[in-house]
Amino acid sequence: MSRIHEALKRAEEEKIAQVRVETAEPRPASVPEIEQPAARVHATETAVALAGNGFALETLTFEGLAGRCQQPAWNPDTKTMLFFRKDNHQYDAEIFRTLRSRLYRARDNGSLRKLLVTSTLPGEGKSFIAANLAQVIAQQHGRRALLVDADLRAPRLHAVLGAPQTPGLAEFLRGEADEATAIQKGPHNDLFCLPSGNLPANPVELISNGRLTRLLDRMASIFDWVIVDSPPMVPVSDASLLANLCDGVLLVVKAAATPFDLAQKARAEFGDTPVVGVVLNGVRRGSGYGAEYYSYYGYPSEEHKG
Ligand SMILES: Nc1ncnc2c1ncn2[C@@H]1O[C@H](COP(=O)(O)OP(=O)(O)OP(=O)(O)O)[C@@H](O)[C@H]1O
Ligand SMILES: [Mg+2]
Repeated sequence: MSRIHEALKRAEEEKIAQVRVETAEPRPASVPEIEQPAARVHATETAVALAGNGFALETLTFEGLAGRCQQPAWNPDTKTMLFFRKDNHQYDAEIFRTLRSRLYRARDNGSLRKLLVTSTLPGEGKSFIAANLAQVIAQQHGRRALLVDADLRAPRLHAVLGAPQTPGLAEFLRGEADEATAIQKGPHNDLFCLPSGNLPANPVELISNGRLTRLLDRMASIFDWVIVDSPPMVPVSDASLLANLCDGVLLVVKAAATPFDLAQKARAEFGDTPVVGVVLNGVRRGSGYGAEYYSYYGYPSEEHKG
């Protein structure tokens, strides 16, 4: 049995045992050990200046893009955006630093820059994990992260950042905005966000029209990480389409909630894109479970090893 399988099974067992305890306190995400990623991690394409609607003609550079992006005022929701807090919740922050270092370790084996954050069902913490992960990456000196809200059904990143929702990805994919108009530069010039834009009637069609692939490849050539937030795997197909455009998947599992069989089914939908880790979210702090989960979760599947 693969360790991810074991991990998902464990989450299911916790659900059956009904150990879930509601608390007003923010519940920490338990960061798993991530072993080396699959050798099959896709190679990131080289930066190419593309002529065409929405793409700059000149050679793409980070400085060039940053100079053209808007910098609207952000008013982050400090309940969600841990690193914008003044009180600096050390425990939560440390968990995200651990996740960051494990992802860098996972990258050692291949080009891992475009990371899809997804989960089986709604409300399991995808946007929370994606937003804080991008933020902790951008906290390191000289590192730049782009947070992409590819949840074109229930987008949330603009809300947690307190940023304008439009123009964004939907306008870019429709050819109504270019990349620099749609991407926003954050207050510290190292965290950028591409919000969802106005909700489209046809998200699957837009995601599949070829423009997102080119955009993600271009951005992966100038950002250290491109973190893509997505809708849940069930019941829509957006996340599996998005997985095909990314180098790896970070699967969020909600402690004592995610049904094991659904998580397993969702996992089979990622095609060739490896699951590089599993984050167990919503572990009760101080319960003693955190440490236990820590050693169980987040290993790549057997078929993705070597
Ligand atoms: N570890 C956590 N600590 C504190 N709050 C959390 C945690 N994980 C999630 N939340 C909160 O739970 C709510 C749901 O999380 P979130 O929006 O990230 O889920 P989601 O999986 O992105 O949902 P959807 O499927 O609707 O996109 C949010 O208010 C979020 O801030
Ligand atoms: Mg979300």
